Amino acid sequence: MTDTTPRPVGPETDPDAPATTGPAEAPVLSVRDLQVAYRTGKHTRVRALRGVSFDLYPGSSLALVGESGSGKTTLGLALLRLLPTLGEITGGTIGYTGDDGRTREVTAMSSAQLRRWRWSEAAMVFQGAQNAFNPVLTIGQQMAETLRDHSRARISRKEILERSAEALRSVRLEPQRVLGSYPHELSGGMKQRALIATGLLLRPRLLVLDEPTTALDILTQRTVIDLLAELREEYGFAMIFISHDLALAAELADRVVTMYAGKVIETGTTQDIFTAPKHPYTSKLINAVPPVSGDLPELASIPGAPPSLATLPPGCAFAPRCELATDECRAAEPELITLTERPADMTHAAACIHHDQVHHERKVIARA
Ligand SMILES: Nc1ncnc2c1ncn2[C@@H]1O[C@H](COP(=O)(O)OP(=O)(O)O)[C@@H](O)[C@H]1O
Ligand code: SF4
Ligand SMILES: [Mg+2]
Repeated sequence: MTDTTPRPVGPETDPDAPATTGPAEAPVLSVRDLQVAYRTGKHTRVRALRGVSFDLYPGSSLALVGESGSGKTTLGLALLRLLPTLGEITGGTIGYTGDDGRTREVTAMSSAQLRRWRWSEAAMVFQGAQNAFNPVLTIGQQMAETLRDHSRARISRKEILERSAEALRSVRLEPQRVLGSYPHELSGGMKQRALIATGLLLRPRLLVLDEPTTALDILTQRTVIDLLAELREEYGFAMIFISHDLALAAELADRVVTMYAGKVIETGTTQDIFTAPKHPYTSKLINAVPPVSGDLPELASIPGAPPSLATLPPGCAFAPRCELATDECRAAEPELITLTERPADMTHAAACIHHDQVHHERKVIARA
């Protein structure tokens, strides 16, 4: 078991860091050494998460980025204990601290406790959510079900209607039109907004969104992103935004976590990650984002394919695709090295022994 908690290895003090003595509040989520495996055969399992650690503070926004198969969805599902039956949390802890200041261990919750906790404290908008609604129930019926099943106290029909309407209005949907509609009667963008509204029905402290804009056209993506930024301001929830679209991540997140082969390989503020990434993979991932205008360098694709989790190379999992790889990289898997230490888990850390040789070229990727 490898410890991926950032270790202070000669950290520098960041002269530009805000003068703060650290957060007064506890993190909403405190994840330590989280491990998940999927059963793939009678005696075989793949380790999809190999020791993930991070803290998420109230009201903050974290983007989880990485190529397909790096474990982003697995992490989102594991955090809410929603893994499919073949997946299992095999190690680590997930501490959740509510408004009452009490910390609960999510991995130890019973199904009854999970039922009360989900939606009211932590909600998730799933990847491919366009199909998440039940096709034979109206949006109003599905929102009512969520409210009835997960509210702490009994809730009247009038209140259900009022709260559903309010949630829909908060995502700029007309309740009169949407509540009585079946999912197929809504456009993709409207469905996505209705799902976000459902996620926010019980005012959770944590919202996990898995690729919430992937199936949408550019204009609708824009609407959803602006909406999420507004909603976060209004409701103050902490957000984990899973995306392979780094430009969107750059807009919405305070902090970015890059994943590779089931591990966190770099973490830092959005500014750190997009202007001075220190893991060769993050640097390549950013350079693979399509440029906004013609005067930016040509799109660079990342050579090679992501490794198979079943047959990971020894040492650094990125070594077969890395131009900087040396024998030392292949000898042992590098741990996160703290580069700039900051409070509230805003530290910049990279799991690369040659991080000082990573010189990132492109500077700006955020969309206009
Ligand atoms: N239901 C499953 N059964 C077996 N393996 C799975 C399952 N879901 C995901 N995996 C494996 O776990 C790894 C991570 O997948 P996933 O979390 O979906 O990555 P991402 O969201 O970053 O694309 C992949 O290698 C994938 O093959
Ligand atoms: S540790 Fe070595 S192989 Fe891995 S990313 Fe850094 S330079 Fe490349
Ligand atoms: Mg995914």
